[in-house]
Amino acid sequence: MTTAIDFARQHQQRFLDELKTLLRIPSVSTDPAHRDHVRQAATHIAGELNRIGLENVRLIETAGTSPTGHPLVYADWLHAPGAPTVLFYGHYDVQPPEPLDEWLSPPFEPTERDGNLYARGAVDDKGQMFMHLKAVEALFVAHGKLPLNVRFLIEGEEEVGGEGIAAYVATKPTNLAADFAVVSDTSMFAPGLPTLCVGLRGMIYTEIEVRSARTDLHSGYGGAAPNSFNALAHILAKIKDASGRILIPGILDSVQTPAEDELRSWQSLPFSEDEFRETVLGSQAIVGDDRFTVFERLWAQPTFDVHGMPGGFTGVGAKTVIPAKATAKASMRLVPNMSSADTFARFRDYIHQVCPPGVSVEVRLIHSAEPSLIPVDNPWIRAAATAMTQVWGRETVFVRTGGSIPIVGDLQRHLGLPCVMMGFGLADDNLHAPNEKFCLRNFHLGIESILLFLESAAALRPAS
Ligand code: BES
Ligand code: MN
Ligand code: MN
Repeated sequence: MTTAIDFARQHQQRFLDELKTLLRIPSVSTDPAHRDHVRQAATHIAGELNRIGLENVRLIETAGTSPTGHPLVYADWLHAPGAPTVLFYGHYDVQPPEPLDEWLSPPFEPTERDGNLYARGAVDDKGQMFMHLKAVEALFVAHGKLPLNVRFLIEGEEEVGGEGIAAYVATKPTNLAADFAVVSDTSMFAPGLPTLCVGLRGMIYTEIEVRSARTDLHSGYGGAAPNSFNALAHILAKIKDASGRILIPGILDSVQTPAEDELRSWQSLPFSEDEFRETVLGSQAIVGDDRFTVFERLWAQPTFDVHGMPGGFTGVGAKTVIPAKATAKASMRLVPNMSSADTFARFRDYIHQVCPPGVSVEVRLIHSAEPSLIPVDNPWIRAAATAMTQVWGRETVFVRTGGSIPIVGDLQRHLGLPCVMMGFGLADDNLHAPNEKFCLRNFHLGIESILLFLESAAALRPAS
């Protein structure tokens, strides 16, 4: 008899070739020019789900926010009475590939180099969500059926805030009833170290727009004329102090301090600040509030970051102008117990308060996500940790991440689903950056981890 693991090992090459086909579709969700490609990716995945034996495969249209509105892909297989039901979540949309000239091979032409597969979406998240399909396929073939009930919900708007799936999940649709969810969209703490992620930050993504005059002015009026960019710089400089502490009143009040044993467990993670600074950040220093460890700053404290400031004169040479309008794209990451609505209200009010005289400011919310903290005291997490330890031969560690996956909080809140975040990315995978990659060993052992986990979860009792 072929076990599911045998099957997965025998078909590694085919699995990889199939992933490459998916990676060739440039499903950039933020770019209206790629609308059809995003839908093509959804249709392609639906076809793959059908092919491996899933049922009720369909695209669910979402309203989404402009310019998105990309479909969800749904599928299920529910013929294991008495066994639990798993809901697999992943996203098939990707970040824009720019700057293109920094890629060593084209972003949508998946290329193997040094044991890695390079392509936009290789690890975030096409490669990781595809592991779910391949694990289920291996189980189907090895068992002749599935040992538990399975649902898939895969979205195409994660990288732009995931409004569509959030609205859908909020309606608590009966076809999402499950005992637990599995998400593979995070990273391992270190190469070869099996890792479960149990906390995510939330976010408010905003646009701050300052207007100083009816129209641009000759800068000879400087001194008397208000300047939108100077005013914007003034506002931004008031949001954090020099040590990185956020100055918006009340915003830190709701921040939940991690439990003692979680803080203690972070202390035993293999970590060197110097190496992190050098290899991950590539910066001169690690900044931030030194009352907190680096892990606390990344995982348990909120942030404020500016992403870009469109407007004004940025051409070659010089232009003596006072720009009438200045914009900043800026976001805050939120940590457990903060709410996006409350944070945005305080953020907006504070910006109005510190706005210098003579200009007007508008603060717009582009999208938001709630933070999440996963309770670890449940049989699904324990089974996942055991399966990971078995495959990787080391004790599984529990970490949080500084990034966000908006839907995880919604699955918890609306459907009461405990989420198992079993991710196989690595710190040097360049997600959202040029030369994104996925370590091939992680792709293959990730599939094995998931299918072992499913086999042991199948023997657990579903909530009645
Ligand atoms: N997969 C990432 C989240 C992530 C980042 C996990 C780093 C582990 C390490 C996800 O696709 C992502 O990029 N999320 C966005 C969400 C945002 C647009 C609401 C993020 O964190 O910026
Ligand atoms: Mn992702
Ligand atoms: Mn991402």
